[in-house]
Amino acid sequence: MSNLMEKIVSLCKRRGFIFQSSEIYGGVEGLWDLGPLGALMKQNLRDFWIKRFILEEENIVLIEGTCLMHPKVWEASGHLEHFTDPLVECKNCHFRFRTDHMADGRFIGQGKAKEKNQCPNCGEKEFTPPRMFNLMFKTFLGSVEDKSHQTYLRPETAQSMFTNFQNVLNSTRSKIPFGIAQIGRSFRNEITTGDFTFRSREFDIAEIEYFVEPGQDEKYFEIWLDKWGKFFLDLGLKKENLRRYEHPKESLAHYSKRTVDIEYKFPFGWAELAGVANRTDFDLRQHSKFSGQDLSYYDEAKKRKYYPFVIEPTMGLERAILAILCDAYQEIKGGRTKTTKATKEVEILLKVDKKIAPIKIAVLPLVRNKSELVKKTKEVYQMLKPHFVCQYDELGSIGRRYRRMDEVGTIFCLTCDFQTLEDDTLTIRDRDTMKQERVKIEDLVKVLKEKLEAQKLFVKIRNS
Ligand code: GAP
Repeated sequence: MSNLMEKIVSLCKRRGFIFQSSEIYGGVEGLWDLGPLGALMKQNLRDFWIKRFILEEENIVLIEGTCLMHPKVWEASGHLEHFTDPLVECKNCHFRFRTDHMADGRFIGQGKAKEKNQCPNCGEKEFTPPRMFNLMFKTFLGSVEDKSHQTYLRPETAQSMFTNFQNVLNSTRSKIPFGIAQIGRSFRNEITTGDFTFRSREFDIAEIEYFVEPGQDEKYFEIWLDKWGKFFLDLGLKKENLRRYEHPKESLAHYSKRTVDIEYKFPFGWAELAGVANRTDFDLRQHSKFSGQDLSYYDEAKKRKYYPFVIEPTMGLERAILAILCDAYQEIKGGRTKTTKATKEVEILLKVDKKIAPIKIAVLPLVRNKSELVKKTKEVYQMLKPHFVCQYDELGSIGRRYRRMDEVGTIFCLTCDFQTLEDDTLTIRDRDTMKQERVKIEDLVKVLKEKLEAQKLFVKIRNS
């Protein structure tokens, strides 16, 4: 793992963004829990996606499908046959891994693998022949564990948007072009996990199935590619850390006519953050065939019936959170202010976008050994709590508390000092500029709302 990645992993644990699942039992590879700050961040990301694509778009509706579906779904979708990765086993240590990861040098530099044809675990060079391994988790519906009760945890959210196509059409009277959107849990039994949360076995996907008239698909593909790219810039990710990757024809998923990934420059290299796929009419046709239900669309304006083509912008939420953390992480050698005692320390600043920042406001008494001041500060905290996601903190010196807040990206630090007790004002310190201004407590809610909304971007001020 790169040095920067190790620092981010450490920050995530120390400050409660991300924990390893079941850590007290030694953890489970590829499973991660979100801590208090990570959960807030993810909620902010969800809110921004919903705001952008459901509330601001005219013709996209949100649904919430189940993680378990009828087993036929996965036959029809092609996942039973195609959702596989090539797996080899080292004959010496029985470590299993993906041949394509070995071929693209994924393991080089990790463990003992110094060459492309070495086992990344023990360095030996003899493997079993590759076999295809299905990534879907099997489970059983009901109490009988036989083949007829077997189904799978969904590896993508898309399928319930196809199986509900007619339900959504009938209940919303949508007309093409229109979209169905969903955020939800997805499960993949990845052979090689790793790079922190980048390749997990359980994660959330946010995706839209946008249904268009055949022949219009290429035009809408471009439109969605632009919208999707803009979304990540508006999340605050740096332009130079984003790029597009056009999948060559031979590596396209079985349903895709064209796929473009939006890649992010992670500390371990460029890798897929999100994607846009042209799924053609594959899924609707397949589900019509397997279910016997007609999932075609009657276009009243054109007086013709057809299977719509589908453009699918998709992203993994945990992967996006990882990109946001990597992008925002800064180390300031010698400290941010020269007045602090700890000028030799490296200070961490998480310059995360304001709408994604988990804590918007910290409320701090200058010192904690003056009860009147502590009481006043707690009153301010109680006053702000219904309006903003805020945190009260009195532990340690004020400089140390500012640093703790910078480290988790808190946007404003409010400090009650001795003057507060005289004239009911306090200071607001801006995370990015470190400028401080004095504001009357009675004006605080208004001033802070204006400041947080000043970017004209959606800022979920309080998660409730
Ligand atoms: N419905 C299309 C689909 O599922 P995908 O590229 O396989 O496409 C969608 O997955 C997104 O989910 C990816 O762009 C990526 O952000 C995220 N993703 C995929 N596999 C993941 C994994 N093992 N761990 C975390 N996120 C993952």
